[in-house]
Amino acid sequence: MAYMSAPVSTIEEAVQAALATVDDPEIRRPITDLGMVRSATVDGSGAVKVELLLTVAGCPLRDKLRTDITAAVSAVPGVTAVEIDFGVMSPEQRQELQTRLRGGATPEPVIPFAQPGSHTRVYAVASGKGGVGKSSVTVNLAAALAARGLSVGVVDADIYGHSVPRMLGADGRPTRVEDMIMPPQAHGVKVISIGMFTAGNAAVVWRGPMLHRALQQFLADVYWGDLDVLLLDLPRAPATWRSRWPSCCPTPRS
Ligand SMILES: Nc1ncnc2c1ncn2[C@@H]1O[C@H](COP(=O)(O)OP(=O)(O)O)[C@@H](O)[C@H]1O
Ligand SMILES: [Mg+2]
Repeated sequence: MAYMSAPVSTIEEAVQAALATVDDPEIRRPITDLGMVRSATVDGSGAVKVELLLTVAGCPLRDKLRTDITAAVSAVPGVTAVEIDFGVMSPEQRQELQTRLRGGATPEPVIPFAQPGSHTRVYAVASGKGGVGKSSVTVNLAAALAARGLSVGVVDADIYGHSVPRMLGADGRPTRVEDMIMPPQAHGVKVISIGMFTAGNAAVVWRGPMLHRALQQFLADVYWGDLDVLLLDLPRAPATWRSRWPSCCPTPRS
């Protein structure tokens, strides 16, 4: 009587499966999913050769990867030796990895205020000039609305000077709980400032895309709770940045 036998996996398949159990220590996803394994070959004596592409040259986690891959692959029956050749991804391969990450486990951050049905009103305080009272208006409006019993949050996105925390007296540091950032509060206002994330108020050369990223993160990763009002104190904006606004943040409502 004939039985259907389960497909016998080859040693190559077993090696692939073993490699799939190794996560990139930084991205925390299997190296096989990240396109890091360029090739994995097994010769007749059971010696495995893995060509691994690092995301950046001089990757500090290279040793960890070596250890993890060696441990995983050595455990495959029939494997006698493991050799790893490190290479570096080309800019195109890195780009592809980024695209893959966006579409996979790390999608674009979800901004609750931008979701349909959000009750939070978002107001941006912006101007092409500095020193015209943007921050003063923002903090006074925020404190006044909070005094009326509304739940209010302020994002200080002014990269030229983070005056909001000082004006509000919210000079605490945000705390981290799991993946969420808890904003300090003052006068009943929750506040997050770009200045809270730069060491010692160091001057940082912020460029449009970096600000875009930081704002997205402030809006997505900060635990704001159910806000009635979110005020954004924006930097004086060169015209080139203004065009980024629609994609970067929820469209302010009146
Ligand atoms: N309505 C106002 N009348 C007079 N001075 C003001 C007024 N609003 C703000 N200021 C002062 O102007 C300066 C710049 O204000 P600020 O709110 O920091 O402006 P911005 O955020 O636009 O750079 C501060 O010294 C502030 O105290
Ligand atoms: Mg200001």
